[in-house]
Amino acid sequence: MLSPLVNVEDPASLAAYLRATGHLGSAASIRVQVLGGGVSNRTVLITGVDGGAWVVKQALEKLRTNIDWFSSPERILVEAAALKILQVLAPPGCTPALIFEDPQRFIIAMQAVPQPHENFKAALLQGHIDAERIAAFGRLLGTIHRRGWQRRAQIRTLFSRRDFFETLRLEAYYAFSGQQVPSAAGFLHHLIERTRARQITFTHGDYSPKNVLLRPERIILLDHETSHFGDPAFDIGFAMTHLLSKAHHLPPWRARFVQAARLFWDEYRRACGDVPWAGELEPYAVRHTLGCLLARVAGRSRLEYMNAHERALQTEIVTRMMPHPPATLPALLEEFVAHLAASA
Ligand SMILES: Nc1ncnc2c1ncn2[C@@H]1O[C@H](COP(=O)(O)OP(=O)(O)O)[C@@H](O)[C@H]1O
Ligand SMILES: [Mg+2]
Repeated sequence: MLSPLVNVEDPASLAAYLRATGHLGSAASIRVQVLGGGVSNRTVLITGVDGGAWVVKQALEKLRTNIDWFSSPERILVEAAALKILQVLAPPGCTPALIFEDPQRFIIAMQAVPQPHENFKAALLQGHIDAERIAAFGRLLGTIHRRGWQRRAQIRTLFSRRDFFETLRLEAYYAFSGQQVPSAAGFLHHLIERTRARQITFTHGDYSPKNVLLRPERIILLDHETSHFGDPAFDIGFAMTHLLSKAHHLPPWRARFVQAARLFWDEYRRACGDVPWAGELEPYAVRHTLGCLLARVAGRSRLEYMNAHERALQTEIVTRMMPHPPATLPALLEEFVAHLAASA
């Protein structure tokens, strides 16, 4: 009899679950390794199963953050849907194959990315700012957005659930930051309204170096729970924020991170091509970059590597830029860095 309370981080519970659901095949025993890093799931690597190595994810209702934060575990089913469609939207091998989804227990299994691999965020924080990896990061997003738009009728239907993006991003990032930093509230409120109205293509919602693994031959994107049919500019601003916050936090490599941000944008645009919305994208990407730069120091999900002084400075710089947002992303990069230099 299968316990309703499966805990995939407990090897005995996981093995009993896989056996009872017929997923274990002839494997006599499995090895289970808890994978850290995420806050919203139990994630484990299992080896010894018939199909090789799998990663099993179980969605949590209460996220593992300092500030209380809840989200329905049904979001894991959005990740399953995204793992399937990304086989079409992304170039081959750029996201793991789905093995199974369990809608009753909110568990999914996917192919494990083989070793050797390195986490992109960890590499960047060590100053490994490799131009080819950055270019690939921009290209992959541009490709997904372009192909998502080409298949927009299908994507709109498959990813019509926007509540996870609403609660985990629009509320947790933008609305919450507006409450913490009242001078940004008007800007963020306006941004939320515009984001809701811009339903254009497959939008990942968590396009962060933390969710990218580097293999020698390619980059691999993970963690698709906030995927929805929405505003591609959000993904650009979200990713830009990671590069710019590292430019802020790591002064010796600042110029290289800024160069990386420029390269990311150039490669994104090239891969996105001549979709009809390409021409009007940049002002929105600028606004999401400002919104996310603030959200990652004042929202519910803050960058763990930034100290109180850095958070205060980033808040001050961004709120100064919000009333007159730069016209282009390169102009935003220049202005952000000039403010950082002036504060040194
Ligand atoms: N398919 C996979 N292969 C190898 N490692 C993985 C895989 N999926 C996740 N991981 C590892 O587990 C970590 C957390 O997974 P992720 O999907 O990002 O979960 P969360 O939603 O909790 O952030 C990743 O950063 C990565 O290191
Ligand atoms: Mg993650």
